[in-house]
Amino acid sequence: MKQIVISNKINYLGTNDRKKELFENNWPLPNGVAYNSYLINDDKTALVDTLEFGSKDDYLDVIASQLGGKPLDYIIVNHMEPDHSSMIGVLLKFYPEVKVVSNIKAFKMLEAYFKISPDNFLEVKEGEVLDLGYHKLTFYITPWVHWPETMMTYDKTDKVLFSCDAFGSFGTLDGGIFDDEINFAFYEDEMRRYYSNIVGKYSNMVQKAFAKLKEVDIKVICPSHGPIWRTNPAKAVELYDKWSRHESEEGVVIAYASMYGNTEKMADYLARLIAERGIKNIRIYDVSKTHASFIISEIWKYRGVVLGSSAYNAGMHPMMEHLCHELSVVGPKDKNYALFGSYSWNGGGLKSLIAFSEKVSWNKIAEPVELIGAPDEKKMEGFSSVAENIL
Ligand SMILES: Cc1cc2nc3c(=O)[nH]c(=O)nc-3n(C[C@H](O)[C@H](O)[C@H](O)COP(=O)(O)O)c2cc1C
Ligand SMILES: [Fe+2]
Ligand SMILES: [Fe+2]
Repeated sequence: MKQIVISNKINYLGTNDRKKELFENNWPLPNGVAYNSYLINDDKTALVDTLEFGSKDDYLDVIASQLGGKPLDYIIVNHMEPDHSSMIGVLLKFYPEVKVVSNIKAFKMLEAYFKISPDNFLEVKEGEVLDLGYHKLTFYITPWVHWPETMMTYDKTDKVLFSCDAFGSFGTLDGGIFDDEINFAFYEDEMRRYYSNIVGKYSNMVQKAFAKLKEVDIKVICPSHGPIWRTNPAKAVELYDKWSRHESEEGVVIAYASMYGNTEKMADYLARLIAERGIKNIRIYDVSKTHASFIISEIWKYRGVVLGSSAYNAGMHPMMEHLCHELSVVGPKDKNYALFGSYSWNGGGLKSLIAFSEKVSWNKIAEPVELIGAPDEKKMEGFSSVAENIL
């Protein structure tokens, strides 16, 4: 393969995973995912993050060939999640003298996963400089973006930020690797789905990381998933800043669980009322059909959220329960919301949706609508207020 040059002496060594169905065995990957790793071939040599074990069979050969007989001096570990670190064990066997560079929190994990000896570990603290010759690397400790040990590596010489999960995206890099080589419209949804489901829970920590990076002159952002930002890194920063501030757009997501179509009819009825108000961004999702990760991404994007469930064994439908669980974990904020439900005897769907809504402290804009049996206009009168106030 041709060398992909990021900057002087910095090459891209990533790979595409088109086989994996579920990221973290949880999040669907219809468009795959890229793991990005970088080799700095300077007087001293350094690999910045590695790959998921087994995702690139010629990884070691490519490293050896690019090093051209030189030793690998450093492996810089920005993050210990195995999608970036699980090649470290093999690399240690090939390069027993290598120094694994990270902060002290990562060292505990390195010991736990790879039984790494302290002799192989080089601790760096925030702001310290690792001099490779031409490149001078420094480090920003950015906990919880996305684990407690996470940090970012910054090359002061060429102003390249290796941000690991931050600014990452689902979606493979299909030929185009850099932001100016791709149609970003395709990646924006996958980037937000990645953000909202993987990193979004720690949005306040993303804001803290941004505060640290405020004065840093960034020419290139090299994340560990998705496109590399060399032409317009400000775009990636703008999106992550917006999402981590929970800034949303005008629009409404209606997600429902329905076994036999009655609750679905309620969703359609409400959507029509909202459309009649001139609101154009309205998305309806059947939670049993669309994986929660896509719905969460849309909820992160839009201000209005309406959730509806038929009653199911005195509670809400299990697929809605799943969505609500994930929502309470990842925690989108500043939403206008309303609820609805349907039942045949004593209900339970709406009651459990209300219990969920009390946990998330969103802004309730109207009373819930609940009906028995088949919906009709009279039973759905309450939706006028929902449609009127949702945005
Ligand atoms: C497995 C199952 C469990 C149900 N549990 C309840 C219940 O606990 N309480 C209730 O009032 N209705 C219950 N129902 C009835 C449905 O909630 C009711 O028919 C509802 O209108 C169905 O909406 P849908 O057509 O959108 O699926 C249950 C139905 C099924 C199939
Ligand atoms: Fe991660
Ligand atoms: Fe990752």
